[in-house]
Amino acid sequence: MQPKKIIIDTDPGQDDAVAILLALASPEDIEVLGITCVAGNVPLDLTSRNARIVCELAGKTDVKVYAGCDRPLGRALVTAEHVHGKSGLDGPDLPEPVMPLADGHAVDFIIEQLRDHAPGTITLCPLGPLTNLATAFQKAPDVVNRVAKIVLMGGGYFEGGNITPTAEFNIYVDPQAADIVFKTDIPKVVMPLDVTHQALVTKPRNDAFRALRTPVGIAVAEMTEFFERFDKEKYGSEGAPLHDPCVTAYLIKPELFSGRHVNVEIETQSELTMGMTVADWWGVTDRAPNATFMNKIDADGFFALLTDRLARL
Ligand code: BDR
Ligand code: CA
Repeated sequence: MQPKKIIIDTDPGQDDAVAILLALASPEDIEVLGITCVAGNVPLDLTSRNARIVCELAGKTDVKVYAGCDRPLGRALVTAEHVHGKSGLDGPDLPEPVMPLADGHAVDFIIEQLRDHAPGTITLCPLGPLTNLATAFQKAPDVVNRVAKIVLMGGGYFEGGNITPTAEFNIYVDPQAADIVFKTDIPKVVMPLDVTHQALVTKPRNDAFRALRTPVGIAVAEMTEFFERFDKEKYGSEGAPLHDPCVTAYLIKPELFSGRHVNVEIETQSELTMGMTVADWWGVTDRAPNATFMNKIDADGFFALLTDRLARL
């Protein structure tokens, strides 16, 4: 099988970093056309810096990294330094990037790639707020039906929210953008908190990263050690949840995940529940299913895949 052509849209973030490393380590499964950055966990200047640090860590300095939207469509930017640290990539001591940003805007890159490739051949992989994608779809509506699929990290149903009682961070930061994306007819696979909160870096899993004895293995161990403190304190969990790597792992081994094809709508009106992913899990409405919403992961299989692939870098 040909590798899947993807664009990673991201706001690194330690878990974004691991998702990118997994993709870059898996050329037989995934061809990364480019990485597009968005404001989210930290402001855009830092996310576009961090994405390049991650490419350099992987030894893949030829990957095109674009800067995109620096704020949500209609709201002030909310960031998550309380989870990811001041730089967004706190933990390991990694050098400032040398590789430059690619010329041009991330949104234009997404549009151009979709126009330049055959319809149905590019999968979009958002790991942050959906601002870049929604802006591309608004600016160039002709590209919408050229997208093969969107596999994204965002939302939560059984787990509720992580930034508010009802909203997950990526959707909360730009609910209007999420609404635009979820209203398209593009096939969607969603990795909500329901599944990502099962992908925990326990002590033995962290030890396995470190035991790779490579700069990548050690950096991943240090990154996950840094951001586990937040979830340990808040949820009493065993370690850091690897939210975003669920997206890239799905592209390689979809059988690790299971869920339901249901209707998912985004709350954009109520301040109380802003950014909630209203998933009709039990099919109590006649709203048409528009997304495959995952709720289970084979966590051991996921970490085996991840450790095995990271060992290549
Ligand atoms: C999501 O928000 C960010 O903090 C993480 O990188 C992940 O994409 C989890 O809610
Ligand atoms: Ca992210």
